Amino acid sequence: MPQPRDPRRVPGDRLFFGRRKGRPLRANMQALLDDRLPDLAVPVEPASADPKTWFARPVRAAWLEVGFGGGEHLAWQARANPDVGIVGAEPFMNGVASLLRHLENDGSDNVRILADDARPMIEALPPGSLERVFVLHPDPWPKRRHHERRLIQHASIARFHDLLVPGGELRIATDDVAYLHWILARVTAHPGLRWTGTRLADWRARPEDWPETRYEAKARREGREPAYLRFVKT
Ligand SMILES: C[S@@+](CC[C@H](N)C(=O)[O-])C[C@H]1O[C@@H](n2cnc3c(N)ncnc32)[C@H](O)[C@@H]1O
Repeated sequence: MPQPRDPRRVPGDRLFFGRRKGRPLRANMQALLDDRLPDLAVPVEPASADPKTWFARPVRAAWLEVGFGGGEHLAWQARANPDVGIVGAEPFMNGVASLLRHLENDGSDNVRILADDARPMIEALPPGSLERVFVLHPDPWPKRRHHERRLIQHASIARFHDLLVPGGELRIATDDVAYLHWILARVTAHPGLRWTGTRLADWRARPEDWPETRYEAKARREGREPAYLRFVKT
C-alpha cells in the first residue's frame, strides 16, 4: 500500500521543520492571502529564470530575503528601494499575510513572494542573479542533534556566494551567540566572501538601512544583543 506523503517534505525531497501556520487568520488577512498572493507569487516555471524578470516593471537588480517572518524588514527595503525587485520566501502563512498587509499599506509593487521553503528556489536560481541576500535571524536550532537543520551551512553559504553578483552582499543577523560563532566559522571559511567590518563594534551597530523587526525588538528586550553581519562577494 502506498505510504502517505510526509507533509513536511518539500520539492527536492527535503524536510521542512518550521511552522507553516499559527493562530487562525482574521477574515481580512485570509482575504488578503486569497486575493493578493496569487498575483505576487514567484512563477513556478521556469524556476531557474532570471528573477529580475519576475516583476511587473523593469528593476535594476533582484534581492532575496530568506525567512522574512512578519515582513517588516522586507517591506521597508521594498519601500526604500523601488528600483530593486525583492523576492521573499517564508513558509509561515501568518507571516506571509502580514507582509501582504505591509505591501498593501505602502503601495509597493516590487515584491514577489514564495510562500514556502526557500531552499528549492535557492537551488534553482541562476548563478549571479542576485545583488543582495538577507538571512535575518534564522532559527538557531540550539540542540546539537538539530544542527543539520540550520539554514546556514557550508553548502548554503557556497550557494549564496554563487547566486550573488560580484560585489553583491550577503546580510545575516542573529541574536544567538552559539549560532553567531557557527555562522562566522562557515562564512569566513569561504574564500569568496569578505566581512565588511573590522572590529566587534561593527557587528553590534545596526546599519541605518537595516530596520528592526518585531522579532529583533523582542530579542533585545529579553537581553539578547543582535549581531548584524555584512559580507561582500569579492
Ligand atoms: C526566527 S524567525 C525570524 C524572522 C525574520 N527574519 C525576522 O528577523 O524577524 C525565522 C524565520 O525563518 C523562516 N524559515 C525557516 N526555515 C525556512 C526556509 N527553509 N525557507 C524560508 N523560510 C524559513 C521561519 O518560518 C521563520 O519565520
